[in-house]
Amino acid sequence: MNTSQLITVANALVEPGKGLLAADESGPTIAKRFREIDVESTEENRLAYRRLLFTTPEIERYLSGIILFDETIRQSASDGTPLPKVLSDKGVVPGIKVDKGAKPLAGFGEEKVTEGLDGLRERLAEYYELGARFAKWRSVIAIGEGMPTTACMEANAHALARYAALCQEADIVPIVEPEVLIDGEHTIEQCRQATAETWYHLYNQMHRQDVLLEGSLLKASMVLSGKACSEQASVEEVAEETVSLARELVPAAVPGIVFLSGGQSPVRATQHLDAMNRLGEQPWKLGFSYARALQEPVMQAWRGDDGNTEAAQNALFQRAKLNSEAMLGRYSSDMEEAA
Ligand code: 13P
Repeated sequence: MNTSQLITVANALVEPGKGLLAADESGPTIAKRFREIDVESTEENRLAYRRLLFTTPEIERYLSGIILFDETIRQSASDGTPLPKVLSDKGVVPGIKVDKGAKPLAGFGEEKVTEGLDGLRERLAEYYELGARFAKWRSVIAIGEGMPTTACMEANAHALARYAALCQEADIVPIVEPEVLIDGEHTIEQCRQATAETWYHLYNQMHRQDVLLEGSLLKASMVLSGKACSEQASVEEVAEETVSLARELVPAAVPGIVFLSGGQSPVRATQHLDAMNRLGEQPWKLGFSYARALQEPVMQAWRGDDGNTEAAQNALFQRAKLNSEAMLGRYSSDMEEAA
């Protein structure tokens, strides 16, 4: 395990003003996103879209890394350059999603546990050869009647920590992502409670499995009101609850917390990140690792038409820039209009 490389990469990923683009949608997820813009999910269309994202001029000003899916890390640009090299040549670190998805947790109704540990050591060695220097594993925690259960949080925390240890053995920085889902009528207080228990179990297991926290990152969901909750918390409240909870439960040794957008609108996700970064100096950097909140405007501009490439790349550049400002606590709504 190359400790200094892990620490260097983890810190580079949360360099102030730079965040991550999650472009690692699995087959069914990208098909769902493409359906919304009437594009068929063929290998050709997926490649065209991801090439568009990765070759956006000067995107390296605002992105430190991009998370890829297994199919994408093996593909190349039109001139034959492997896509991970296209990124690393610009100073954008290539990452890889390595989990095999959330599957029903036996005996626990709707709850899920993320699978993918079998054969992971061998897959990580191959991904390193292909250029990946960091990885992502997402588990999902639902809030509802009797949920989340301790069984579900523990099972997922255990898998996340074992994944993280395997990554570090392979000199790959693990991003651990326990997503507390936004779906439901729950209040922000219920979300805070579920997130508290989730993070508690996660860092308990991270210690158990002897993961080097300095060479890892947390990908977190924000503490939010449920999507169907009648009383929606304000931007300031979300920022306050999320950061105060992280101060209780996320060790200071972790270099950064990168947030997922989880179904928030692009503007709202940026506002929340900005508000958190206005709360002052924290033990960790607070950055972004958005999929939908960065890509929604890009897909809307592209719609599967090559002729829209420039407009789509512009949309990515603008959204990444606004989130970069938010990471520095310097975003304002005027910037949306200017963009
Ligand atoms: P969203 O930002 O769309 O929630 O996706 C982030 C992600 O990578 C989920 O694993």
